[in-house]
Amino acid sequence: MSQPISRRGFVLGAGAATAAILTTRRGLSSPATEQRVNIDLAKETGTVRPELHGHFAEHLGSCVYGGLWVGKNSKIPNINGHRKQAVDYLKGLIPVLRWPGGCFADDYHWRDGIGAAAKRPKDVNLHWGMYTEDNSYGTHQFIELCRLIGAEPYLAGNVGSGTPQELRDWMEYCNYPKGSSLSDERAANGSPEPFNVKYWGVGNENWGCGGNMTGDEYATVYRRFATYLRRFGETQPFLIACGPNGNNKEWTQKFWGNMRGGRPSGFAMHFYSNGRGNTATHFTLEDMRQQFASFPNIEMAIVEQRALLDTMAPPNPRLGPVGLLLDEWGVWDRMDPEEEKKYGRLFQQITIRSAIAAALGLNVIHRQAGKLVMTNIAQMVNVLHALLLTDEDKCVRTTTYYVYEFTKAHLGQLSVQTESGAAGAMELSVSASRKDKDVTITLVNPKPDVTLNVNCSLAGGSAAGATARILHDADLNAANTFATPDRVVPQALKVTVQGGTVTAELPPLSVATLLVKLA
Ligand code: AHR
Repeated sequence: MSQPISRRGFVLGAGAATAAILTTRRGLSSPATEQRVNIDLAKETGTVRPELHGHFAEHLGSCVYGGLWVGKNSKIPNINGHRKQAVDYLKGLIPVLRWPGGCFADDYHWRDGIGAAAKRPKDVNLHWGMYTEDNSYGTHQFIELCRLIGAEPYLAGNVGSGTPQELRDWMEYCNYPKGSSLSDERAANGSPEPFNVKYWGVGNENWGCGGNMTGDEYATVYRRFATYLRRFGETQPFLIACGPNGNNKEWTQKFWGNMRGGRPSGFAMHFYSNGRGNTATHFTLEDMRQQFASFPNIEMAIVEQRALLDTMAPPNPRLGPVGLLLDEWGVWDRMDPEEEKKYGRLFQQITIRSAIAAALGLNVIHRQAGKLVMTNIAQMVNVLHALLLTDEDKCVRTTTYYVYEFTKAHLGQLSVQTESGAAGAMELSVSASRKDKDVTITLVNPKPDVTLNVNCSLAGGSAAGATARILHDADLNAANTFATPDRVVPQALKVTVQGGTVTAELPPLSVATLLVKLA
């Protein structure tokens, strides 16, 4: 198993000195271990850009239809067809939202989703079940959702089965202010103001469902598409090329080996954490260990792909470096066929184990903030690693929702270096960031049976006070279901500040975020 890259080892009690037997919130006892963490406030590793907490919504299962979108005539409370409860929950939590796919993007024709809904063509969603897609949810609906929840839109264009003209026309339709036929058509469809979309994906997984190309073949296709993707209005488009599957270096080398001029602003890799064993609510400890082992590999992939990019596409003096994105990540468990039948493709329950996985991923992302420009967990509602699950009029906030809610405090802050004696996927995971007198620390205890008494010392500052929230359940399969929507919700966590250091007790299977005020 590979080790996290950024945490260099000094061992202070990790795995040693069992201090006491503590009693968890649910009354079970677990041995406790002292764990020191050093946070160096002067060693900055990059800004935690809001886009690092991005999300993804695809026309897949019930993510869009039935999840986010219930339609204007639904009995379910809605705002112009958008599920009101989802809008309320997601408002302010989603800095950027990628749509319409995924694999769906490379078979999507944007013109089918504009104009009078009744006249829109019916297509077949060939990647996700061959059902008929009535296109009632299209560009205007997506942009409206983004405006409602305060998200920056990120449109993934069709390269696999589309043409350069189709994609450049979508860009003109969205961003040209007025006076062209396409911008006037947008106005006639109810949106006189341009959408000013900044983020544009030039295809998705073009090594697979986006056309089955090799890296060098895709580079040729990319260049051809990008030639026509221009600044149509006040917004300079940020073009995102398809990056590797996981840490596939050959794809990256072949792409950049065949990239001459007109290079993309971003390069997007995908890295899922598969659960090969049991379904989401039947995970064993071994299933969990195997899934968590992916996070050190994700961290290594970020570091190695960044280094490759910097070698093969050195930072441009005017434009800076090519941005690295992780625009699909998250847990992908074994699906329960009955649940998929009821709730749609790739529906899985989200447990405390999924929340810990989300926090392990976010800690990697925070630690490597300087190497990334965006990440998008897959997906926002009812699909894979979801924030919300819906069933008719019910809308449940998952454990992962709460992880995003309380780690939001890192956004806009400077990530700083952390060191603990713990290295390895099942050890304490830490990330920290600061702004002025505020320090945010996220601690994750993935151990199923050990409480960690974590003592954080701050080099370059002294803590004057702190508050914290924790998400925890002793049962790794505990979830917020439609029957028990509030089984796992954040609680206040007691933190002690003494002599400028901060101490908190993390029970097994827990995630905590500490908000520290410096003296
Ligand atoms: O998120 C589900 C699918 O995973 C996406 O459509 C595709 O891009 C990836 O393989």
